[in-house]
Amino acid sequence: IIDFEIVENRHIHALYSLLVLRPVNATLPEEILPGQFVEVAVDNSAGTFLRRPISVNNVDRENGTLWLLVRRAGDGTATMISKRPGELLNLVLPLGNGFTIPAPGQRILLSGGGVGVAPMLYFGRELKRLGMNPEFLLGARSKNDLLQIEEFEKIGKLHISTDDGSAGEHGIVTTNSALSEKWDRIYCCGPLPMMKAIAREARRIGADCEVSLENMMACGLGACLCCVEPTVKGNVCVCTEGPVFNINQLTW
Ligand code: FES
Repeated sequence: IIDFEIVENRHIHALYSLLVLRPVNATLPEEILPGQFVEVAVDNSAGTFLRRPISVNNVDRENGTLWLLVRRAGDGTATMISKRPGELLNLVLPLGNGFTIPAPGQRILLSGGGVGVAPMLYFGRELKRLGMNPEFLLGARSKNDLLQIEEFEKIGKLHISTDDGSAGEHGIVTTNSALSEKWDRIYCCGPLPMMKAIAREARRIGADCEVSLENMMACGLGACLCCVEPTVKGNVCVCTEGPVFNINQLTW
C-alpha cells in the first residue's frame, strides 16, 4: 500500500483522464507486469474508503511515474478524475497476473476498445523494449474517441475501426481487415461482447488468445467473491486468478 502524489491530471476526453502519479517517500515496485492492475482508494459519501480497480496504463521508469487511464463511470472514478496535482491517492499494487510474454519472432496483435486500450499501451511498450514488433487493433465510436493514439503510434503499426468511419475502417474492430491476416497471438481488453468476438476470430484464424476480464471488483484480494468467473476448472476469482485468461480457460 503506497501513497502516490498526482503529478499531472490530463483531461484527454470528456470521459477520460490520464493521471500521472509518483510514489511519496517510496519508489515504484520493481516489477509491475503488463496486464496487472492497482486498487485505488476513494472516499465515498459515508466517509469510508472503497477501492476501484484500474489497470496499469504505463510505468515510466525514467521519471519514476505510474500512469492510470481513468474512465468516469461512477462516483469513485469521478472523484479520482477531479483530483488536482499535489493531491494524494492511496494505491494497492501490483495486483493480478498479467499477460503472457510471447516468444520472439511471433506476430502479435494487441486489441483494445474503450478504456480497454489502457493496459495495451504498457504491454506494447514492454514488448517493443524486448525487441518485438507488436501491432495494435483499436476501436472507438469516432475519431475523437480514440485514446492515446500518438502514444500507440510510437510503438507499432495501428489498425483502427470507428463506428462512424471518421478514422480507420468503418465498423467494429472484429470486422477490421487486420483480422484476415495471420497472427500467432492476439491479446484483447475491452467490453465483453468485443472480447468474445475477438476470441471467436482468434479461434477462426488459429491464433492463441488472451483476454483481460473487467468483472466487477470490490476487494481485489479474493475476499468478497464479487468477481467470480466460470472457467473450465470451475469458478475462480478474476482479481486473484486473472484478470488475464487464455480463452481456452474460459467457458466462452
Ligand atoms: Fe473481491 Fe475478487 S474483487 S474477490
